[in-house]
Amino acid sequence: MITTLMVRLHAVLLLLLFAAAEQAEKQQQQQQQPPITLPGCPDRCGDTPIPFPFGTKPGCFRDGFEITCNDTFHPHRAFLALAGGASQHIAEIHYEVGWNYPVKRVDHENTGIELMEISVANGSVRAYGLVSSLCNVANLSDYVAKCQDIALGERSPFLLSVARNILVGVGWRVEPRIMSYLWSAHHNTTYEFSLACLSNLVGMPSLLQLATNGSCTSRGCCQAALPEAAPLTDFGIWFNFYNNTMWLTNPCSYAMLVETGWYNFSTPDMYGFEVLPRRYPRGVPFILDFSIRDKDGGGACPAEGQPPPPGYACVSGNSYCANTTGAAGASHGYVCRCLDHYDGNPYIANGCQDIDECNFRDKYPCSTDGICKNKLGGYDCPCKPGMKGDGIKGTCTDKFPLVAKVIVGGISGIFVMAALLFLILIHKEKQKTIEFYKKNGGLTLEKAKIIKLFKKEDLDPILKSRNFIGKGGFGEVYKGLLCNEEVAVKKPISGSILENEQFANEVIIQSQVIHKNIVRLIGCCLEVDIPMLVYEFLCNGSLEQILHGNNKVPLTLCRRLSIAAESADGLAYIHSKTNTKILHGDIKPANILLDGNFVPKISDFGISRLIARDKQHTGSVIGDMSYVDPVYLQTGLLTEKSDVYSFGVVILELISRKKSKHSDGSSLVNNFLEAHKNGKKGTELFDKEIAAAGDMEILDSLVVIAVECLNLDVDKRPSMIEVAERLIILSRSRKL
Ligand SMILES: *[C@@H]1O[C@H](CO)[C@@H](O)[C@H](O)[C@H]1NC(C)=O
Ligand SMILES: *[C@@H]1O[C@H](CO)[C@@H](O)[C@H](O)[C@H]1NC(C)=O
Ligand SMILES: *[C@@H]1O[C@H](CO)[C@@H](O)[C@H](O)[C@H]1NC(C)=O
Ligand SMILES: *[C@@H]1O[C@H](CO)[C@@H](O)[C@H](O)[C@H]1NC(C)=O
Ligand SMILES: *[C@@H]1O[C@H](CO)[C@@H](O)[C@H](O)[C@H]1NC(C)=O
Ligand SMILES: *[C@@H]1O[C@H](CO)[C@@H](O)[C@H](O)[C@H]1NC(C)=O
Ligand SMILES: *[C@@H]1O[C@H](CO)[C@@H](O)[C@H](O)[C@H]1NC(C)=O
Ligand SMILES: *[C@@H]1O[C@H](CO)[C@@H](O)[C@H](O)[C@H]1NC(C)=O
Repeated sequence: MITTLMVRLHAVLLLLLFAAAEQAEKQQQQQQQPPITLPGCPDRCGDTPIPFPFGTKPGCFRDGFEITCNDTFHPHRAFLALAGGASQHIAEIHYEVGWNYPVKRVDHENTGIELMEISVANGSVRAYGLVSSLCNVANLSDYVAKCQDIALGERSPFLLSVARNILVGVGWRVEPRIMSYLWSAHHNTTYEFSLACLSNLVGMPSLLQLATNGSCTSRGCCQAALPEAAPLTDFGIWFNFYNNTMWLTNPCSYAMLVETGWYNFSTPDMYGFEVLPRRYPRGVPFILDFSIRDKDGGGACPAEGQPPPPGYACVSGNSYCANTTGAAGASHGYVCRCLDHYDGNPYIANGCQDIDECNFRDKYPCSTDGICKNKLGGYDCPCKPGMKGDGIKGTCTDKFPLVAKVIVGGISGIFVMAALLFLILIHKEKQKTIEFYKKNGGLTLEKAKIIKLFKKEDLDPILKSRNFIGKGGFGEVYKGLLCNEEVAVKKPISGSILENEQFANEVIIQSQVIHKNIVRLIGCCLEVDIPMLVYEFLCNGSLEQILHGNNKVPLTLCRRLSIAAESADGLAYIHSKTNTKILHGDIKPANILLDGNFVPKISDFGISRLIARDKQHTGSVIGDMSYVDPVYLQTGLLTEKSDVYSFGVVILELISRKKSKHSDGSSLVNNFLEAHKNGKKGTELFDKEIAAAGDMEILDSLVVIAVECLNLDVDKRPSMIEVAERLIILSRSRKL
C-alpha cells in the first residue's frame, strides 16, 4: 500500500519535473527569439506582436505604419493609426417602400481598422472588417442598409489584397457590390461599381434542397473574387435593392469583404435580424497587403548593381527586395523578405536569422533514414551510414543488397560464435587456473604471505625456448627477468606428483631458509598443473659445469676450499639452524650453484627430495646414484647423514676434478677409499692444477674429511656442522 503510494508520488514528482523542464525550455526558446522591433520599442500591443516597420511609439515605426494601441480594451487592441488616414465606418442608408433610392444617409462613427495580426513575411496584415446588412425594418415599408466604408488613403502603404479576399453575400435575394473610389490627379473622387454577386432563392421550390450548409453558390450565399484591376484603397459595400416576398421571414441580407475561405455558410444565417453583424461585432477578417513607399507614393527596389536609395527598408543581411504592384499591375512600392532558409524581420538589422530546418521536418523534409544537420542558409540530410541516396528527397536505400546483407550477417554470425567459443575456452582456462591454484596449496601460501605468488601470465614470457638454460631431475630451467631481477624459473616436467598441501608447506619452509649459501626462493606460480618455482639466478652456473664443463675454468685451491667450506656451511644451516629440519637428499655438484664471485649456493633441496622420492625409478635419479648414501638405499631412511655422505663425494670431486662416476665405470669414491685403505693418500688422484707440493697437507686433510663423510657406519660420519667447521678452518689456514 505504502509502496504503491510512494511510487505514485514519485511518478507525480517526475512529471512535475518534466513539466518544469519543458516550461523552462519554452521560455528559453522564447528568449532566444530575435527581436522584431527597433531597439527599445514595444514589440506588442495586447496579444498582437508589432514588428517593425510597424510601431506604436514615435521613432518606432516607419511613415505610414503607425499603430494606435488602444488601452481602453483589455487586452489592448491595435489599430492602424487614424493619422495615417486609415478609417472604417458604417454608412447607414434608409429606403422607403415604393422608392428604390435612398431617402437618408447617416455616417456612423469611425471605428478604425483594427489589426488581428501582422505578417512581415507575407507583407500583409489581417484586419477586422465590418459586416454590411440590408434589413426590412417596418412591415415592408422601411429598409435600412448599413454599409461598410473603408478609406486607406491615396498614399497608404496598404492595399486590399486582391488574391486573399472575396466578396460574400448572404440572403434570400441579395446582390451586394463593392464600390471603389477612383483617385484622380485632382483629388476629386468618382466611383465605380466594380464587383457584385447575386444570391436568389425567389421562386425556388424547396429551400432545403437548394441552400446547402458550407456551399456558397448563389443559393442563399454568393461570393465573388476581386478583379485584379481594382484599385482598392478606398471602397465600400453597396446593395442593389430587390423587392421580394420573403422580407417578413427573412428580414435581412448581408454582405462582407472577407478573407478567402474564412466564412462557412450556414442556412440559419439567412433568418433573423442582423444576425451576422451581431455575431461579429468587431468585424470579420480581411487581408491588407502593405508595401514600402516613398513619401510621394513611389518607391521600388534598386535596380541590380545600383546602390540602395536613402531610407531603403531591407536592412537585414540575408534579405532581399521585391517590387509590389497595385491595381492593374501598376507599381506600388516594394517589400523586403528573408532569403530562403532564413526567417525573421528583414526590416531590422540582423532580423533575418538562419532557420534550424531540422526542427521543421514537415516543411523541410528529411527522411527518417537521414541525419538532419542544420547549416547557415540551408540544411543537409545525408543518409545514415550504410545507406545511399538523398535524405531530403527521401530516397535513402541500403547500400548493400539483401543477399550481401545475408552473407555479411552470416559471416558476422560465425564470428560471433567463434568469439563466444573463445570466451568459453578462456573461461574454462581461468577456471582451471583457479583449480590448480587451490590444488597446489595457493590458499595456504597466500595466508603465509612469505613468497611471491606469480600469475601464469607473468611467467609465460620467460618460458620460451630461447630462455632455456638447463634441464635437471626436477625439470626445465629458464632464465628471465621478473621485476628487474634476474631469475631462474624451474618448470617441473609433467608427471611428478607433488602432494598439494605438502608442496605448499615445503615451499613455506624453503622460503624461510635465508642463508648466503642457499639459493633464495623468490616465489612460485601455482596456477598450473605442476607448480613452477622462481629462484634467484646465479650467473656462474653449477659446480658441475665449472668442474667438468667444456671450457674448464681455472680453479685455485683457495677457491675450491672456500666453495667446499661455504657449501658445507649452507648445508649445515639447513640441517640445524632452521626450526624445521630440512634434508637435502640430492647433494651433488649440479646442485651447488655459483654466483659471480664463485660464492656457492645450494639449490634444489627439499623439493627435489620430494620429487626424487617419487621418481626413484627414473633414469635421471639413477644416473646420480654415485652421490646417494648406500645406507639410505638399504634402509630407505633418509637422514642428515645421507647428505653428509653425498657431500663427501662432492669434496672428492672438488679436489680431483673428476666425475664421481667415470666413463669407464670405475667409481671416484671407490678409488679414493681404496687408496686411503692402503695408506696411500690418493695423491695421484688430485687435480694437477692444485696439487702443488706446498698444498699436499691441506689436500690430505680434505681427503680425510671426505673419507669420514663416506663412512658406511652412519654414526661415525661427522655432522654437517663439524664438516663445515673443519673446512672453514682449512680454508682460513690456506688464506693465511
Ligand atoms: C479606444 O477605443 C474607445 C472605444 O472604442 C474609444 O472611445 C477611444 O477613443 C479609443 N482610444 C483611442 C486612443 O483611439
Ligand atoms: C414589394 O412587394 C410588396 C408585396 O408584393 C409590395 O406590397 C411592395 O409595394 C413592394 N415594394 C416595392 C418598393 O416595390
Ligand atoms: C501568411 O501567409 C500564410 C500562407 O499563405 C497564411 O497561412 C498566414 O495566415 C498568413 N498570415 C497573415 C498574417 O496574413
Ligand atoms: C406589421 O404588420 C403586422 C400585421 O400586418 C402587425 O401585426 C405588426 O404590428 C406590424 N409591425 C410594425 C412594426 O408595424
Ligand atoms: C476632377 O476635378 C477637375 C477640376 O476640379 C475636373 O477637371 C475633372 O473633370 C474632375 N474629374 C472627374 C472624374 O470628375
Ligand atoms: C445547417 O446547419 C445548421 C446548424 O449549424 C442546421 O440547423 C441547419 O438545419 C443546417 N441546414 C441544412 C440545409 O442542413
Ligand atoms: C461548414 O459548416 C458545415 C456545417 O455547418 C460543416 O459540415 C463543414 O465542414 C464546414 N466547412 C468548413 C470548411 O468549415
Ligand atoms: C523593381 O523596380 C525597379 C523600377 O522599376 C527596377 O529598376 C528594379 O530592377 C526592380 N527590381 C526587381 C527586383 O524587380
